[in-house]
Amino acid sequence: MHAIVLGSGAGGGVPQWNCRCPICALARAGDRRVLPRTQSSLAVSADGDHWLLVNASPDIRQQLFDTPALHPREGLRHSPIRAVLLTNGDVDHVAGLLTLREGQPFRLHATRGILESIGANRVFDVMASGVVERVEIALDRPFAPVPCLTVTLFPVPGKVPLWLEDGTPEIGAETESTVGAMIEASGKRLAYVPGCARVTDGLKARIAGVDALLFDGTVLADDDMIRAGVGTKTGWRMGHVPMTGEGGSVEALADVPIGRRVFVHINNTNPVLVEGSEERHAIEAAGWIVAQDGLALRL
Ligand code: MLT
Ligand code: MN
Ligand code: ZN
Repeated sequence: MHAIVLGSGAGGGVPQWNCRCPICALARAGDRRVLPRTQSSLAVSADGDHWLLVNASPDIRQQLFDTPALHPREGLRHSPIRAVLLTNGDVDHVAGLLTLREGQPFRLHATRGILESIGANRVFDVMASGVVERVEIALDRPFAPVPCLTVTLFPVPGKVPLWLEDGTPEIGAETESTVGAMIEASGKRLAYVPGCARVTDGLKARIAGVDALLFDGTVLADDDMIRAGVGTKTGWRMGHVPMTGEGGSVEALADVPIGRRVFVHINNTNPVLVEGSEERHAIEAAGWIVAQDGLALRL
């Protein structure tokens, strides 16, 4: 299995267009300690020819440009991307669908709830029916979006997308709004969970023994955004479990057998983005990789 992290940042990327927090400032200044990061997306293939895109980020055009494996290869119009899968309806995971117009056929896979949100918004009709097939995926039912790759969606604690919040949303419910993807090829398994509000025993059992886990690395501590002075929301309120602290992912997953542990969907306020920082050392010492754009895994 080939997996390429196209975008390792959370919503907004690094630097975020309007942010002058110290981390965004370093990235904007070209300081080598903070690599710029595009928004959350993964590409996966079993054969290197047919690719599944997991989440379509607003930065998809740049991500495809930067990734030769995803360039058109034959004829005048072509793409190795045969399928797209959505793990939630967040802007950083769906806005890139608007870039995938131009009459290129592929199949769009998501749970019913996510397809309904997209279906209710006519701007997504730029992916013309008859060209892009929308395929509703049931939880816990394996399907093969591209040859030799099997995917099973499973619910994880989450919430509705920010753009669909109406009042105070329920957080941490396991519904079709936020899912993880278990991706399998040739006996290897990769779990992709870019958004998760809490690590549950069910999640631990589900991912035990995977060859790679790519997991929600939005915030280091629940109050990252507040500490950085850029907002009032906690990680929990945004539907993201912190890396550290009680119930944090590093500790909660420490006793789960996992091949490679990789943080993705990393928000621009997360201090682990700064190479050489204490926070980065601590996360790496705990056995985790802080993903950067273009990180390729061969399983
Ligand atoms: C998130 O992951 O919390 C969302 O991407 C937030 C957003 O939509 O900006
Ligand atoms: Mn996000
Ligand atoms: Zn920032």
